Amino acid sequence: MKIFTKIIDLQTFVSAQKAEGRTVGFVPTMGALHEGHLSLIARSRKECGLTVASIFINPTQFNNSADFEKYPVRTEEDKKLLENAGCDVLFLPEKEEVYPPGYDGPRMDIGFLNEIMEGKFRPGHFEGVIEVVYRLFDIVKPNKAYFGLKDFQQVAVIRQMTAHFGLPVEIVPCTTIRETDGLALSSRNMRLNAGERQEALFIYHSLILARDLASKLSPAEIKAQIETLYARSSLRLEYVEIIDPKSFETLEQNWVEGAVACIVAYVGEVRLIDNMCIYSCD
Ligand code: PAJ
Repeated sequence: MKIFTKIIDLQTFVSAQKAEGRTVGFVPTMGALHEGHLSLIARSRKECGLTVASIFINPTQFNNSADFEKYPVRTEEDKKLLENAGCDVLFLPEKEEVYPPGYDGPRMDIGFLNEIMEGKFRPGHFEGVIEVVYRLFDIVKPNKAYFGLKDFQQVAVIRQMTAHFGLPVEIVPCTTIRETDGLALSSRNMRLNAGERQEALFIYHSLILARDLASKLSPAEIKAQIETLYARSSLRLEYVEIIDPKSFETLEQNWVEGAVACIVAYVGEVRLIDNMCIYSCD
């Protein structure tokens, strides 16, 4: 695996590969890699001649400085995981390479997506995600880019951004990878102690419950039930929303195909996010 820290070196290599006819698949990450990230690498390898991953803990998308400071850094382990997964190129830039002095990011208003769920509870988060992904796309110039559906709203934001700027990259959404007991893999899971790790399972169980209840109750009734359950649990629920997967409108009385339940909850100090299709899923 080739490792580049400088844009110029990465671009020289990638453009030569493109000139030889290879399609470029790109997997942006913030490191502390796990099987969820590696599933994106595997998908890219299946579909593209050259797979590029990036590791960059983007400071501009953290609305909480403690979360940024505690974000796990495992660069040496990550390199090995990527190498073993057959990743061709790792882009590992310093902050100054991504955001040189005077760098002016893209201007874009994502509207409604910024008013709900992650947009509402993490002010400035999606602006940071757009800024870094736009910049990374501009550097890597991939044909396809792979994103996990675990961050369901992030996929929609990236899609909206690529459409808005007319970027020539196909966004490929990929299924959420879970532990055998159901907990969605996340870099933040590394911050859980053994007891918290068990408590975190509650999130998956509540999503399964929502799915089981979907044939009997309305979305609003399920949301209310979940809120009651969390109020009695050791987790702190930030939000539960049952949404239309296309419009992101909150569902109240009526179901739509592919309705998704989205949950964010704190286990101790760790903020975990998960979602599941709960109605008429294919
Ligand atoms: P990060 O949290 O490192 O995630 C990188 C990619 O891995 C994202 O597309 C995320 O949705 C995906 N991913 C995480 N956990 C997953 C799981 N259990 N199953 C499948 N995919 C999973 O998301 C980011 O970084 C950043 O916001 C980024 C897009 C890199 C911009 O900084």
